[in-house]
Amino acid sequence: MPRLCLGIESSCDDTAAALVTDDRRILSSIVFGQEGLHDDFGGVVPEIAARAHAERLDHCIEQALEAAGKTLGDIDLIAVTSGPGLIGGVLSGVMCAKGLSTALGKPFLGVNHLAGHALTPRLTDGLAYPYLLLLVSGGHCQFLVVEGPQAFTRLGGTIDDSPGEAFDKTARLLGLGYPGGPLVEREAERGDPARFAFPRPLLDRPGCDMSFSGLKTALRRARDEVVGDKGGLSGQDRADLCAGFQTAVADVLAEKTRRACLAFATQTGVRTTFAVAGGVAANRTIRNGLETVAGEAGFAFTAPPLALCTDNAAMIAWAGLEQYGQGARSDLTLSARPRWPLDQQAAPMLGSGRKGAKA
Ligand code: KG4
Ligand code: ZN
Repeated sequence: MPRLCLGIESSCDDTAAALVTDDRRILSSIVFGQEGLHDDFGGVVPEIAARAHAERLDHCIEQALEAAGKTLGDIDLIAVTSGPGLIGGVLSGVMCAKGLSTALGKPFLGVNHLAGHALTPRLTDGLAYPYLLLLVSGGHCQFLVVEGPQAFTRLGGTIDDSPGEAFDKTARLLGLGYPGGPLVEREAERGDPARFAFPRPLLDRPGCDMSFSGLKTALRRARDEVVGDKGGLSGQDRADLCAGFQTAVADVLAEKTRRACLAFATQTGVRTTFAVAGGVAANRTIRNGLETVAGEAGFAFTAPPLALCTDNAAMIAWAGLEQYGQGARSDLTLSARPRWPLDQQAAPMLGSGRKGAKA
């Protein structure tokens, strides 16, 4: 009988529950967003998020059970995000998992949210270890060598903003709305990427670290120059700005991916698969660039379906199953961790994307 795991995720602004088996079947995956709750504040408000998680977790789990045709008694394991994330939300999930575990007499396991993202290609594609992963989202941007359910080496990452954050800020600077990524991508389709000369930050330095905050400043300056000259932005100006910005991000990610593939091959002695996960992987220009570079470096390319790239509980259930299979266990002393780097050996970064929000 395959082992059945209930996954619980509540580290940012999505309340999620899922049922996954250890033979890689997702029986259900329910995600309750918090659209509307934070609109007046220009960002996720931790207290509001935590309260919403506490109110909705039970209902979310009920829906996941119902959609899978299972009952609480069928569950063999409970996996819960125990960090990194907004502490109130993480605590809501951890308390819920402890309560269920105690009531049902079933084991539970605290899982690193980033491990959930990093192990998703094993759930969706059955990838073998080791593989190279780029996690590129609203909160993160890092290259990881994934060697086992709890063995990650960070090859590099952003030293300031994440690309998703840069897309969102670009959209705000151009009055396009939120979330910015898809809106900037749509504008860029009609734009001339060569009209504005945007920088390619950190390409002149060796290694896989990246920086995106300078691009945002360059975009603001270019916008202000056009507005200064012409008194406003035309539709074409906006499209050209978006195209220039998007191409700069795509170029940086592609070149750093090329280097990460080489570093991976040197470290592991093999060329396997390059996987990309996170909301920004939805961008076709970026994705095509990454696929080309990975192919040239002798790597296969994969990207999980979008619903499993963005925050969800199926990835937490899967990571829990893999880690439990390796002997990992939690007990009632498990605490919620606001910060929890996947690679504990890596030097701390100056910044790690959006502070304290989505991972
Ligand atoms: O992974 P995700 O859904 O949430 C977390 O950050 O965990 O990523 C959301 C980010 C947002 O910043 C959004 O603007 C960006 O992904 N994004 C995109 C696109 N679709 C979403 N960025 C560029 N192009 C897109 N098509
Ligand atoms: Zn995430």
